[in-house]
Amino acid sequence: MSHQGKVAIVTGGGGGFGTEISKQLAAKGAKVAVVDIVAENAERVASEIGAAAIALEADIGKAGPVKQVIADTVEAFGGVDIIINNAGLSYPPVKVVNMDEDLYDRVFDANVKSIFHFTKYGVPELDKRGGGAIVNIASTSGVRPRAGNTVYATSKAAAIAFTKSSALELARQNIRVNTVLPVASMTPMLTGMFEDDDGSRIAAMEAGIPLGRLGQPKDIAAGVMFFLSDEAEFITGVALPVDGGWTAG
Ligand SMILES: NC(=O)c1ccc[n+]([C@@H]2O[C@H](COP(=O)([O-])OP(=O)(O)OC[C@H]3O[C@@H](n4cnc5c(N)ncnc54)[C@H](O)[C@@H]3O)[C@@H](O)[C@H]2O)c1
Repeated sequence: MSHQGKVAIVTGGGGGFGTEISKQLAAKGAKVAVVDIVAENAERVASEIGAAAIALEADIGKAGPVKQVIADTVEAFGGVDIIINNAGLSYPPVKVVNMDEDLYDRVFDANVKSIFHFTKYGVPELDKRGGGAIVNIASTSGVRPRAGNTVYATSKAAAIAFTKSSALELARQNIRVNTVLPVASMTPMLTGMFEDDDGSRIAAMEAGIPLGRLGQPKDIAAGVMFFLSDEAEFITGVALPVDGGWTAG
């Protein structure tokens, strides 16, 4: 379907999934605010898209920058219809007893508080357009955690609960809220988490996925685009694993 005339904010738009989601939205006619804490990555993606995109540098774990992103998007494109809360933070495997409290806070700010901020400050803009859609990118970790990943998994479980609860709050405002749960996928996040891997740990993950491969940005973008489509007009509060069967059994 076309998203002509729609305006989308994509957080983490300079990263693996965010790049693909931003480009697919623009290809369907949307105007896109590509938001990232790494300015040069947001700028690269926005410039690859062209006039339909702007790059905005922001730490989405903080209220002030989120409010600025929303204001800048409204100024550039006249409103907001779609919010993709995709930015997130992970870390190499570490047991809770060895984890710094500072890292806990950074993970929760990026993965959970960001969704709170964009819901709190973004919904009034969606209301002005008569409704809209929010898609939060959680993780299969939120329903099927791995050892060494407790805080990340807990943050993603929170993102799933936030999605369902806010979907209930916002349904009568014609705002649908859904979440995509990606399995391990080849993006800078995954390669960063396993930079000391000789290939065997990633190969073991791949072997454990029933469909026999890791996820790719196009798989996750497909889930997002489905939630944004007219065909999904009666779907809200849903957590969709895009995982090659990883959470099925
Ligand atoms: N790749 C995977 O295996 C995988 C699996 C499950 C879920 N996810 C989730 O998918 C989402 C996208 O991940 P990805 O794989 O594309 O990773 P990525 O690292 O390629 O992209 C994430 C982007 O978010 C940005 N970001 C991080 N913290 C930020 C902050 N505080 N403010 C603004 N931007 C910030 C980063 O700069 C980066 O560009 C994340 O929420 C991640 O947790 C990824």
